[in-house]
Amino acid sequence: MKNIVVLISGRGSNFVAIAEAARSQNWEAEGLKLACVLSNRPGVAGLERAREFGVPTAVVDHKDYQTREAFEEAMIEVIDRYEPAVIVLAGFMRVLTSRFVDHYAGKIINIHPALLPLFKGLDTHQRALDAGVRIHGCTVHFVSSELDGGSIIGQAVVPVLPGDDAHTLADRGLKVEHMLYPRAVRAVASGRVRLEAGRTQMDKDTALELVVLSSQA
Ligand code: GAR
Repeated sequence: MKNIVVLISGRGSNFVAIAEAARSQNWEAEGLKLACVLSNRPGVAGLERAREFGVPTAVVDHKDYQTREAFEEAMIEVIDRYEPAVIVLAGFMRVLTSRFVDHYAGKIINIHPALLPLFKGLDTHQRALDAGVRIHGCTVHFVSSELDGGSIIGQAVVPVLPGDDAHTLADRGLKVEHMLYPRAVRAVASGRVRLEAGRTQMDKDTALELVVLSSQA
């Protein structure tokens, strides 16, 4: 079995999208298993969602540790038990050091709510509106030690519409996150997408699968 470990910090809607895909597409028959959901915040809704799907949960509360390094060592201890093929950041809101990233080289992926390399960091929807772009969306990428800077795996695009505010734009973007992320997780976990010498490698069919163009409003 290739284990998938999901890291969250909050509501876990991307985890739910992944878990629903895993169930309806029978990922276990392909040797892919959602092995654990790990949260850095206790009591968040995403942990409850994980339990509903029967996925084991763990909490490593960053507030219990004096340093980022100590917090990450505690996470590594939990994660290594599962010998994961891929670590999925799904609304995980802590910056990771190069020690953590290097420990899982080429195995950590993230979803970011903007079309990278535009709008790295936080507040992406308001910054897209302020910039006046007509398209927005999300990006799945390999995690490197540069924040939101790793090699891109897939992207989903939505229009920016008249009257949008950060909330309406975020809602539209989230819908396509839920389309893109399960496809990307499955492709990376199965080995169809790989990081080689810092660049993402995949075949043409996979590349087409990992671009979502949506005009849904
Ligand atoms: C998603 O929109 C994700 O792109 C974003 O947080 C949200 C998590 O939602 N991630 C980041 O901003 C990472 N820096 P979820 O908990 O419902 O999946």
